Amino acid sequence: MSEHLCDSERCATYWPLPDVDLTDLTLFSQGFPHDVFTQLRQNDGVLYHPATPLTPDNEGFWVFTRYQDIVPLARDIDTFSSHRGGARTGGGTMIEDLPSAAGPGTVINMMDDPRHKALRRLMAPGITRGRIAALEPVLTVAARQAIVSALTKGEGDFVSDIAAELPLFAIAHLVGIPPEDRHPISGWINAVLDYADRQLGQSSASSQQGMQQFMAYAQRFVEQRRQAPGDDIVSLAIAGELSAELGSLTPMEQVMVFSVVMVAGLETTRNAIAGGILTFIQHPQQWLLLQREPVRMNRALEEILRWTSPTPYNRRTATRDVDVAGKRIKAGEKVTLWWASANRDEQQFENPFAFDICREKNAHLAFGSGGHSCLGAQLATLEMRVVFRELLNHIDTFALNGPVEWVRSNKHTGIRRMPLRYKGL
Ligand code: HEM
Repeated sequence: MSEHLCDSERCATYWPLPDVDLTDLTLFSQGFPHDVFTQLRQNDGVLYHPATPLTPDNEGFWVFTRYQDIVPLARDIDTFSSHRGGARTGGGTMIEDLPSAAGPGTVINMMDDPRHKALRRLMAPGITRGRIAALEPVLTVAARQAIVSALTKGEGDFVSDIAAELPLFAIAHLVGIPPEDRHPISGWINAVLDYADRQLGQSSASSQQGMQQFMAYAQRFVEQRRQAPGDDIVSLAIAGELSAELGSLTPMEQVMVFSVVMVAGLETTRNAIAGGILTFIQHPQQWLLLQREPVRMNRALEEILRWTSPTPYNRRTATRDVDVAGKRIKAGEKVTLWWASANRDEQQFENPFAFDICREKNAHLAFGSGGHSCLGAQLATLEMRVVFRELLNHIDTFALNGPVEWVRSNKHTGIRRMPLRYKGL
């Protein structure tokens, strides 16, 4: 690793693992580094990570690792902003500051109340329980087709053949994206979210190109919906009013509604599905148990979410000086909440390193917590249920058929490629 640059007196005091740099993506290139976070939790739940040569903005940040510290912090959305705080102009929910035009203040997950709450209310009717339930029959057909086709080949990349297909199908169906546009869109998003060829805070030719193509598409799509609105989540956001005082969404905010639904919904669910199958390969007794007793599906899905935690962390910015767990956090400082660490917290979960599809107490934080908790949780869970049910219905065993390639990112714990061999029932 990398030398830590002491940007304050906190450096020596609060960072117990001088050889560990959470902004070095290599640390995350084989999945989430649970061993590191177990050590961090044992040291202290609230730590200060100093800037290193790899840290974006050359600025340290707070690291919250324990369940009991993270939950109240996520709830206190006045003190811990998803937009910005202190003197900084940019902000957002990633370690690197994004400039205001690129998300903070304009996209729901990087917005503060009251605008955030009003936008959440505006989007919610586009993703109600009833609308999601209505997707189940078409999703089932799509999952069955993808699985039967993979089974016919006998082997293939589980990620592109199955895990990525269902979320793409579901979101595209929900938003009304024509079939021929779906794969180009997911390709652009992959290029933006995968740090294969760059460091945090940097862009590459492929990520820039992906972003430009995605945003150009988003703008065209929103314009079409302005001309001919439907009853989908994007049309609702364009046509509706936030409130009498707040008025309507700006044109940029409208584009960002399209953008967040696509970006938040594709990679995460793909990673939960692929990560779930890899976990079953590593814990074959649990797959056998689910095969024998499929009524355990609901608990199994919650356990897959806890175990895989596809979104490892989100950031906030302190809006005022505040004392938390004996530490003084200053206005404007970055604070990171590590959901994936909380999900293995020994103080919260019994035997957290056991993958147990019968786990009873499982209030995991895979979908976040507090005012910004995931708006797509029900949709994601339905997609997972449909895929795992269809896999149970068609596939007896599956095995790795080559090395697993992980996404190189500390923002998404994901699998880029996972070659599998299948045996049908
Ligand atoms: C397994 C799949 C998923 C995981 C693990 C996941 C995870 C999360 C997490 C951790 C947050 C909280 C962000 C924060 O606190 O800063 C969040 C928010 C959000 N998610 Fe998901 N998500 C998933 C699927 C989806 C899907 C399918 C959608 C599609 C509609 C979606 C849309 C959103 C939106 C719009 C927010 C922002 C909510 C707000 O700021 O009020 N997510 N998600």
